[in-house]
Amino acid sequence: MCGIVGYLGFQDPKKIIVDGLKKLEYRGYDSAGIAVMNDGKIKTVRAEGKIKFLEDKLGQEHFNGHLGIGHTRWATHGAPSERNAHPHRVGDISLVHNGIIENYLEIKKGLLARGAIIKSDTDSELVAHLVNEEILRTNNLFEAVQKTLSKLVGAFSIVVIWEKSPDELVAFKDGPPLIVGLGEKENFIVSDVQAALQYTKNFVYLEDREIVHIKNKEVRYFSADGKPIEKKVNHLDWTTELTEKMGFKHYMLKEIYEQPRAVAAAIGPHLNPETHEVEIKNLGFKKTSKEVFSGIDQILFVACGTSYYAAMVGKYLIEQNARIPVEVDIASEFRYRKPIIKKNTLVITISQSGETADTLAAIRLAKEHGAITLSITNVQKSSIDREADGHLYMSSGVEVGVASTKAFTSTLALLNVLALEIAKARSVLSKEDEIEGVKNLLAVPSQLEAVLSFDKYFSEAAQKLKDFKGFLYLGRGVNYPIALEGALKLKELAYLHAEGYAAGEMKHGPLALIDSRMAIVVVAPTDDLIEKTVSNLQEAKARGGKIISIGTGENEALKSMSEYYLSLPSASWMTNPLIATVPLQLMAYHLADNLGLDVDQPRNLAKSVTVE
Ligand code: G6P
Repeated sequence: MCGIVGYLGFQDPKKIIVDGLKKLEYRGYDSAGIAVMNDGKIKTVRAEGKIKFLEDKLGQEHFNGHLGIGHTRWATHGAPSERNAHPHRVGDISLVHNGIIENYLEIKKGLLARGAIIKSDTDSELVAHLVNEEILRTNNLFEAVQKTLSKLVGAFSIVVIWEKSPDELVAFKDGPPLIVGLGEKENFIVSDVQAALQYTKNFVYLEDREIVHIKNKEVRYFSADGKPIEKKVNHLDWTTELTEKMGFKHYMLKEIYEQPRAVAAAIGPHLNPETHEVEIKNLGFKKTSKEVFSGIDQILFVACGTSYYAAMVGKYLIEQNARIPVEVDIASEFRYRKPIIKKNTLVITISQSGETADTLAAIRLAKEHGAITLSITNVQKSSIDREADGHLYMSSGVEVGVASTKAFTSTLALLNVLALEIAKARSVLSKEDEIEGVKNLLAVPSQLEAVLSFDKYFSEAAQKLKDFKGFLYLGRGVNYPIALEGALKLKELAYLHAEGYAAGEMKHGPLALIDSRMAIVVVAPTDDLIEKTVSNLQEAKARGGKIISIGTGENEALKSMSEYYLSLPSASWMTNPLIATVPLQLMAYHLADNLGLDVDQPRNLAKSVTVE
C-alpha cells in the first residue's frame, strides 16, 4: 500500500510523477503529494484525498527542475489529512515512504530528546528527521541515507531527495517493492512498473536492504553496508493499453468483462486442445514437476482476501482429483501460529499482486521450514514470485480495480489445471478423466461469455437487493468458497453487511438472523448436493427469508422458491465456481454503482497490501 514515484531526467517531473501516481492510486488514496525542484528549492504540494484533489491544487503550477518525488497514501500511522500527507520535509530533506516503521516510538523518543519538532503523526516524518540529522553531519546524501537504514526496524520502502543536490536521489527498501526504471537520460523509482511503463521497459527490482543511488544519469546499487552490487536489468514486454478503461465505466467492469480472455490466457499454455492432455511446462522447479508432485505428502495453501477463497476452491479440486491432503491458511494467521510444516509439503501461495506482506512472510517461513514452494501470481517478478521455487502465472493482464475479479477466475482456472496435473503426476488420473477435465476447462471462456451476456438480469437482481438490511451468501462443496467471495465483493463494493456460509451450517446459527429483511443469495448448481441445498433454503424461506438463487438451466424447484432466479449454463463441478462467480461480481458491482459508490477504489481499502 502507498505508491511511490521518484524521477530524475529531462522531462517535466510534475507531469511524470502525477501521471505515475494515478497508475498507483490503487495502492491507496487517502492523500497525495509531490515535492519537485524549482529554482534550486524543493517545492511541496500535498492534498488530502484522491489524486484529483492534488491535481486541482497543482493547477497551472510550474516547476523548472528535473528532480522530484511523489506519493499516494494509504494511512497507517496518523489520520488521512494534508498534515500527514507525504512528501515529508525536514531541513533540506524531502522523503516519501511506504510501509511501517515498527520502532517508531523509540525513534520518536530519541528525536524529541534531541529537540526535534515533529509536525505530523506519521512514522515517515521521523525517518526524514533521522536522514536530516545524518546529513548535517556528513553533508552526503548517500551516506546519510545508508546510516539511517541501519536505525530502522519494520517494513518500508523510502525515496529521499536533498535540496542542496538537485540531481540526486537515493532510495532503499526492506519489505514493500521498489523498482528502478531505466530510461534514456532519465530514471525512475516506482512501487510498481505500471507507473513508468510508458517511458521504459527496462527495470531493476531492488531486493530487501538494497540501496539505489541515482546521480545525474548514473545509477548505482549498494548493499545495506554500502558495498557496491551488480543488479540484473529485466526487460518487460508489457503494453500500456492494458491499463486503460477502454470505454467501460469502471476498471472493475472492464476487468469482469475481460474474464473469458483472461481465463483463456491462464489455461492456454497448459492444455493441448487436440489431444486434450494437460501438461504444465516450465514450472521452474529444480526437479521435474512429476518428481515434485509425486514426491509430496501434503499441500498447504496460504493466501489473503480473494486469493484465500481461490485457495479454498483449490482444496476441493486437488483433494478430490489427486487424493492428497490439502490445508488452507490465511497468511496473517499462518505466519504467527508456529505452523507445523511436515517434510515433503508443497506450500502454494496465491497472490494477484505478488506483494501482499503476510503472504510474502508466509512463503519465506515455509522455505525456512524446508518446504517446496510454488507461487501463483499475476505479476511476474513480484516479490512472492521471486521468492518461490516454482511459478504459475494468472496471465490476467493488469488488474486495476481494487476488488479482485479476473485474477480470481484465472486462478480458479489454473487450480483446475493444477489439480489435473498433480493427479496425473501421482498416477491417479484416468485418461478419460484427463480428457474430460481438459474439455470442460476449454469450454469455460465461452461459458463465461454466455454468462456475461445475461448482465441485464444481474443488474435487475441488484435492484432487488438494495433494500435488504443484511445478506447471507450460501453455497456447498466447491461452491462454498464462491459464496464467501460473493459476500466479500458486496462488503468491499457496496459497504453492506454480508456473510458467506456453508449452506449446511444454517441451522447452527445463521437461521436466527432470518426475517423478511434478510436476503439469501445462494449458489446452487444442479450437482450431487442440490437437494440438500434446496432443503436448507426451504428452512430459510419458511422463516421469511428472501431468496436470490443462481442455478443451472431451468431448475423449477429452485425457481419456485426464489424471489429472483438466475440461470447459468451447465458446467462440470470443477468449473462451475468460475461461471457462478460472475453473477456475484456483477450484482455487487451494479448495486454499488447504483448507490453512487466508488467501485474501483472502495473506501479504506488498497489493492496491494504491503504492510501487515
Ligand atoms: C487486498 C485486495 C483484495 C485482495 C487481497 C489479497 O485486500 O483489496 O482484492 O484479494 O488484498 O491480495 P493479493 O494481491 O495477495 O491477491
